[in-house]
Amino acid sequence: MGKDQRAAILGLGSYAPEKVLTNQDFAKTLDTSDEWITERTGIKRRHIVAKGESTSDLAYRAGRAALKDAGLEPKELDFVLVCTFSPDYITPATACAVQEKLGLGEHSTPACDINAACSGFLYGLATAKAYVESGFARHVLLIGAEAVSRFTNYEDRTTCILFGDGAGAVVVGKARERGPAHAVATVKIWADGRGKSQIITPAGGAVHPPSQQSVAEHLQCIRMNGREVFRFAVSRFVGMLEEVMEAYNLKGKDIGAIVPHQANIRIIDAAVERLDLPRELFVMNIQEYGNTSSASIPLALDEAHRAGRLEAGKPVILLAFGGGLTWGWALIEW
Ligand code: ACO
Repeated sequence: MGKDQRAAILGLGSYAPEKVLTNQDFAKTLDTSDEWITERTGIKRRHIVAKGESTSDLAYRAGRAALKDAGLEPKELDFVLVCTFSPDYITPATACAVQEKLGLGEHSTPACDINAACSGFLYGLATAKAYVESGFARHVLLIGAEAVSRFTNYEDRTTCILFGDGAGAVVVGKARERGPAHAVATVKIWADGRGKSQIITPAGGAVHPPSQQSVAEHLQCIRMNGREVFRFAVSRFVGMLEEVMEAYNLKGKDIGAIVPHQANIRIIDAAVERLDLPRELFVMNIQEYGNTSSASIPLALDEAHRAGRLEAGKPVILLAFGGGLTWGWALIEW
């Protein structure tokens, strides 16, 4: 495929709700402390949706910002994809609510959701790349958006301190259309359903329909086998970084930035130690947002872009892992 035929990121945007929960807020009601949370996770604060605010509101704001950055009007979109595991409803898709907010109802622009938990954005990027490069769509608005706080048990200290809400978005189109486009050179994604119980929202679906008992037991909230998931995350994280560096024959000095899913600062520490990479290569904003699942990579990518951290001509590596189990990486030619 000719270089200018490849899919590229034409614009970026992000949004986080105004309301903030600090570690000290948790320490008031739970047997936890700022010290424990900071040391074990790297998280200091997380943004949380306010009453009346939901996933599609965050997604819409991030999407609008990405469209503005790309210099495109909503009606120039051919597809709206929202990656989320904390949707507005089981049905309709959150993407349909975003499509409506963008005024695209009258244009009948197709819209649907992708659920690949924390790897959602990379699954979405693989889809958007395929749509654009096959000619099926010219412009895809791809959004990772989560209101995880709506599915969090705030009495469970092992999960509630981890998650936050937010949204990040990109417009994907052909590289040749715009000046400063960032070609999506490769996206690779995987899953292993044998690990499906490791990160799970047990009730509210067809296996355990909601009941008084499920609500009393908080089964509509996310549960995670933290230790197991941590082991899985470190091994995939290190393995994927080795794979992409070998595939592109990259040394640390050749890489512009590595934007990982923001799950735990200690996963980055492990990768830095095992692969002997400079820590500054890793874009981290977990201290401010916690784990925002499918929003975390586009949110961190947008912040790094706006801060001028991404150097033109150097590759940017995206790395994700999460529920499913799912995982994946992408290389963007920045
Ligand atoms: N405050 C104080 N103590 C706590 C807290 C807390 N908030 N949470 C747990 N503890 C206690 C535990 O009860 C345990 O006590 P015990 O030894 O008496 O039983 C002790 O701290 C150690 O618990 P661990 O679970 O071993 O703690 P760990 O160091 O593994 O950290 C954590 C837990 C942060 C969840 C970690 O395992 C982790 O980050 N896992 C990976 C998360 C991840 O990568 N998620 C990505 C995917 S998410 C998705 O797809 C939606």
